[in-house]
Amino acid sequence: MAMSHEKLEINIGLMIVLIILLISVGGLVQIVPLFFMNSTTTAVEGLRPYSALQLMGRDIYIREGCHVCHSQMIRPFRAETERYGHYSLAGEFVYDRPFQWGSKRTGPDLHRVGGRYSNDWHRVHMINPRDVVPESIMPGYPWLETTAVDAGDIQIRMTVLRKLGSPYTDEEIAAAPEQLSGKTEMDAMIAYLQSLGTAVKTRR
Ligand code: HEC
Repeated sequence: MAMSHEKLEINIGLMIVLIILLISVGGLVQIVPLFFMNSTTTAVEGLRPYSALQLMGRDIYIREGCHVCHSQMIRPFRAETERYGHYSLAGEFVYDRPFQWGSKRTGPDLHRVGGRYSNDWHRVHMINPRDVVPESIMPGYPWLETTAVDAGDIQIRMTVLRKLGSPYTDEEIAAAPEQLSGKTEMDAMIAYLQSLGTAVKTRR
C-alpha cells in the first residue's frame, strides 16, 4: 500500500490538510445548493421590501439589541404554531439583510407580532413594559419616543439594498426622506414591528 493508515495518523500536517479538505467539501455540498433553490431565494407572494420608516425601525431594533432577547423564527412544531401562527418560511426573509432569526428567547418570538397589538399598545409597552405586562422583565426604551429618526443616509441605505436585490423604485427612494420627516424612533420601531410576518396569512 502506498500510504498506510498508520502513516496518516502520525503525520499531523497531512492530517490537518485532509481534515480541512473533508470539512470544506462537506460544507460546500450542504450550503451551495441553498443559493440556487427557489424555495429559499424567492420572496413569498405579497412580500414587500421594508418601507423607509420600517427600515429605520429595523436598524434601531438592531442598535438597541432587541435580538438579544427575541428570535424571529417560528419553528414548524405544533407548540410553536399554536402560539405564534404559521411557521416561518425562508421566502419571507429574502429582503432581510441581515436576518434577525436568532435562537435566544428571553422574550417571545416576534416573527408574527405584526398586527397582533395596536400601535398604542406598542408605544406604552416600549416606554415601560410593566405598564401593560406587570410581570415583564423587558427593559423600557423611553428615549425612542423623544428621539427624531435620523433620515441622513436613508437613500444610501435603500440604494445599497436595491443593489442586493430589494426591488425599490426610484420614486420610493426619492420619497424616503419626506416619509421620515417629523417621525420619532418610536414611530419607526412600531412601523417595523407591525410589518413583521404579515406577508403570510396566519391562523391565531
Ligand atoms: C432583556 C430581554 C429583552 C429585551 C432586550 C427586549 N425584550 Fe421585548 N420582551 C421581553 C420579554 C421577557 C417579553 C414578555 C413580557 C412582555 O410582554 O413585556 C417581551 C415582550 C415583547 C413584545 C410583546 C410580544 C408578544 O407577542 O406579546 C414585543 C413587541 C417586544 N418585546 C419588543 C421588543 C423590542 C422592540 C425590543 C428592543 C427595543 C425588545 N423587545 C427588547 C424581553 C426583552
